Amino acid sequence: MVGKKTGSSGKNPKVIFYKPERIKTGIPGLDKLIDGGLVKGSSVLISGGTGTGKTIFCLRCLWEGLQNDESGIYITLEETAEDLRRDALGFGWDLKKYEKKSKFKFVEKNILEDTNFEFFDVDRMKASRIVIDSISLLSLVVEDKSSMRGRLQELVKSLKERKITTLLISESIDEEHLSILGIEEFIVDGVIHLKSIPMGKMSQRTIEIRKMRETKINEGIHSMEFCKNGIKVVD
Ligand SMILES: Nc1ncnc2c1ncn2[C@@H]1O[C@H](COP(=O)(O)OP(=O)(O)O)[C@@H](O)[C@H]1O
Ligand SMILES: [Mg+2]
Repeated sequence: MVGKKTGSSGKNPKVIFYKPERIKTGIPGLDKLIDGGLVKGSSVLISGGTGTGKTIFCLRCLWEGLQNDESGIYITLEETAEDLRRDALGFGWDLKKYEKKSKFKFVEKNILEDTNFEFFDVDRMKASRIVIDSISLLSLVVEDKSSMRGRLQELVKSLKERKITTLLISESIDEEHLSILGIEEFIVDGVIHLKSIPMGKMSQRTIEIRKMRETKINEGIHSMEFCKNGIKVVD
């Protein structure tokens, strides 16, 4: 359990309130929708169609960790490390600097096929935040589909034991299906859904917190925008 017991009620001094430790996402306007930030050590599915900003969202969150001296790992099967480095640099996030200091690493391997974390440097780097881009693609390349649920659960559990906050990117096909296998959303602690709705020549981007354990969430659909420093929630 990550967090602390705080305060006791004036009327009943025996009542102790548990408050989980939270980490900032670094995305302006988001943390206030989720009680101050993501629960440290939780696993959150970032779902959305293609081009909805899932990758940028996760890179921003890792960047925030790096600014607070937290190590990060980005596991990618979607894009090459080189493409992602360039995407990040477009927003001023110079990841290379942290790669040189061994505080950050891109991994182009399937973590579901080999949950030996040594292989991924998870322990050596004392990773605090991990992104898996994408869990949909990882699922597709695993041949034995029937064991997927178990493997995913095992992965999420091992990362939680290490108090690592994990963002699992999921390609959603439509509103009803947040993930390809249809099991991912039930395994994780939280689900954040990103959407891009075409509006004439523009598109309206939105963010919705669908679920977040241990968190009082600000429900509803909120507008999201790209900006010079990444993305922000505007209302
Ligand atoms: N600086 C920017 N300004 C506006 N839109 C941007 C900017 N950078 C990226 N985008 C938009 O974000 C999309 C890619 O975001 P990305 O996080 O890679 O999406 P996903 O991972 O969900 O496919 C692009 O298709 C583009 O529409
Ligand atoms: Mg992407």
